Amino acid sequence: MKATKREVILGIGGGIAAYKSADLLRRLQDNGYLVTVVPTPSSLNFVGAATWQALSGRPVTTQVWEKVEDVRHISLAKQADYFIIAPATADLIARLAAGRADDLLTNLVLASDVPKMIVPAMHPSMWLDAATVANVSTLRARGFIVMEPEVGRLTGSDSGQGRFPETAAIIKSFLSMTGRHQDLIGTTVIVTAGGTREAIDPVRFIGNRSSGKQGIAVAKAAASRGADVHLIAANVDIDTLPGVSITHVENAQQMLEALLESFKDCDILVMSAAVADARPKTRALEKIKKAMFTSIELEENPDILATLNATKDRQIVVGFAAETSELLASAQNKLVKKALDMIYVNDVSGGAIFGHDETAGTIVLRNGDLIPVPHQSKDTLADLLLDYALKQLG
Ligand code: CTP
Repeated sequence: MKATKREVILGIGGGIAAYKSADLLRRLQDNGYLVTVVPTPSSLNFVGAATWQALSGRPVTTQVWEKVEDVRHISLAKQADYFIIAPATADLIARLAAGRADDLLTNLVLASDVPKMIVPAMHPSMWLDAATVANVSTLRARGFIVMEPEVGRLTGSDSGQGRFPETAAIIKSFLSMTGRHQDLIGTTVIVTAGGTREAIDPVRFIGNRSSGKQGIAVAKAAASRGADVHLIAANVDIDTLPGVSITHVENAQQMLEALLESFKDCDILVMSAAVADARPKTRALEKIKKAMFTSIELEENPDILATLNATKDRQIVVGFAAETSELLASAQNKLVKKALDMIYVNDVSGGAIFGHDETAGTIVLRNGDLIPVPHQSKDTLADLLLDYALKQLG
């Protein structure tokens, strides 16, 4: 688990402004960032790998064929908290917009979903060409921060918009990009995701349709905003998530135990897991034969949120309710009964929401306020829930 996010990949494109990025690298380091430089092969015509190695104090590779045993395009992508690509040439921007992966840098960009900033530098006629304009708008639509190049004198006698911005301006934009995502530094967030399975015998279980997508979205959003994140995953097919420690559990009792251990040290609990309300009274050690499989005697599972409530002090607790009728009344009832700070309720009748990337519903706050959540991605809702949780945390 990373407490602070400071691993930066500095991508260098093949433009004359590459030499100015030596200063950018220094200033990033001054701001506390740990920088790995990944030049494109053509940029080495302007500044060689030795310069980047010496300044960063780290090995420099440009192709996936180097240090193959490290699987650099994945290991570096996992390690990175941010990307800054400066200078970015028209060709590099085109390759990024097309989603190509023909050198180490473009592989890394594809393999990582952390915030990324691009600092273009090129001749004004290339910057204003319709292809570059379209590529830049594609990248912006995908969430890249693309700086506007400065207007002024270029390397030759021409002038216009295309100059590499001053280092201070780049650093300012970079810090505002990282700052925007860092409002949860120092905050510990626990997220539960998935659906518990209550074993009937070694083969069968009582389960539910929760996919875990919403919980994963919250964990990812919290990690990218700087929180220490612990994901308690019930039957979710996920091994790693950058910046998130994961505990796998199968049933409600195990989820409760994992939470009893960690809840007191957290600031925000987002309880998006669907917990089975009941479990078989006994778990058969052998597979039950068809002829004997006629009824299952159930006993109630512990109510995890209600149990944790007894030890709650500063924690902000976010509950979820998946309902098929009387949505708001049930949500309000659960909010009070489980002493929640807010609850997100959605209508799951007809199989809606489960397993999908989108959601729609209502956030109900402790003070009774209702925040409608129109149809949107689970990622967007994740940030919205964290915004409200942070507000309540003060
Ligand atoms: N929850 C919990 N422990 C349980 C059941 C649910 O902590 N045994 C949590 C869920 O993770 C969710 C919230 O409580 O955040 C509401 O879940 P839901 O299943 O809708 O609540 P129930 O109390 O089980 O209500 P219902 O009678 O509608 O099943």
